[in-house]
Amino acid sequence: MAKRTIVVMPGDGIGKAVCDAAIDVLNAAGFDAEYVHGDIGWEFWCKEGNPLPDRTLKLLEQHKIALFGAITSKPKDKAEAELSPELKGKGYIYYSPIVSMRQRFSLDICMRPCKAFKGNPLNFIRRGAGNTVEEPTVNTMIFRQNTEGLYGGVEWTNPSDQVYDALMTHPKFKENFAWCPRPELAVSTRIFTKKYTTRIVKAAFEYAKKQGLKSLYVCEKPNVIRETSGMMLKVAQEMSKNEYPDIRVNDVNIDAMMMWLTKNPEIYNVIVAGNMFGDIVSDGFAGLVGGLGFACSANIGPEIAVFEPTHGSAPKYADYETSIVNPIAMVLSACMMLDHIGENKLSEKIQAAVAEVVAEGKVKAYDMLKLSGSPDVINKGAASTKQMAEAIIAKLK
Ligand code: NAI
Ligand code: MG
Repeated sequence: MAKRTIVVMPGDGIGKAVCDAAIDVLNAAGFDAEYVHGDIGWEFWCKEGNPLPDRTLKLLEQHKIALFGAITSKPKDKAEAELSPELKGKGYIYYSPIVSMRQRFSLDICMRPCKAFKGNPLNFIRRGAGNTVEEPTVNTMIFRQNTEGLYGGVEWTNPSDQVYDALMTHPKFKENFAWCPRPELAVSTRIFTKKYTTRIVKAAFEYAKKQGLKSLYVCEKPNVIRETSGMMLKVAQEMSKNEYPDIRVNDVNIDAMMMWLTKNPEIYNVIVAGNMFGDIVSDGFAGLVGGLGFACSANIGPEIAVFEPTHGSAPKYADYETSIVNPIAMVLSACMMLDHIGENKLSEKIQAAVAEVVAEGKVKAYDMLKLSGSPDVINKGAASTKQMAEAIIAKLK
């Protein structure tokens, strides 16, 4: 097969350490690729007033597939304060480069698998009467709409006349909010389009079909948020009826889901949700299978796809001489990339190696030892980022 080119955007903080670890694993597994570096993150905001420079967008357009580490985001005023002196006061506004990237390339399908590895000391357990302990086998794929909904960015404080007048045409607004002085009014919209709702629901059905599953869960709140949540549920029900008669649609409300996921997480194999509820429910499930050191994700658009751990740049640990963070989330994100480009065998091989390291339990990152992060964790027996990558490499078959 022709050599692949992968754009690597390490970003800020621990992003570089985890990207380096994942690339070592990919190389050792025999993935034949060339990696080109893409600038992204805080440094470029400070120096150029743009955390996602055009040259990086061009690389993404050209090569289509990317690995992304993590970035640092800060509130607006802090961002302005850290700009290079010559850029200050010139109207630069900080926007999260991840959100920009998702919207710019329509990376609308976010997949977040939450799968428990046997032997992971961070796995969720249930205690029963008489001190019984059960470890449910969590294996959930969450499909999160990645570009719309509450994170769509269509929002106002002190809305203009036009916006205010439009809101006043809604009887509920008039009845319940007309009392509020306009400068004290903040409005964030939750926009769903049928096109992108259909795409995320379809992705969930296709996954369920491939896995031979008989049902999926729409995790929204259609009884209250009737228009948007209601649209997603209806799209799913119709799709089940017309295209996937063997796959049943279950309707579970986001609030109830957060309760069920610690009672019986093993029954949820496929969940589909809008942007914010997908974000929430995927963090909830990630917590059952090891948390940030294990949580991987894919952002998939019609042309371009970006694979990233869900953790951030963990600035506390960024400057350690020996990086201590767990690279598994990044390694598993790289496996999602391999699956996406049809290198399923390689992906399986790496996942099996990760599973073996975790099951064996000899090499553990500090999070798996339930330590709080400090340079000292290495002396307490924690594996460094590099040692964890090496342990995975040693298990590749
Ligand atoms: P974070 O995910 O960076 O770190 C939270 C805590 O999780 C860390 O202190 C650490 O204890 C743990 N952690 C994170 N990654 C880990 C790993 N690989 N192994 C072991 N433990 C790990 O979130 P935080 O502290 O809220 O945000 C830090 C910065 O990252 C902020 O600037 C934030 O905006 C940004 N961020 C970026 C994201 C991204 O790039 N996708 C996502 C979340 C936050
Ligand atoms: Mg999140």
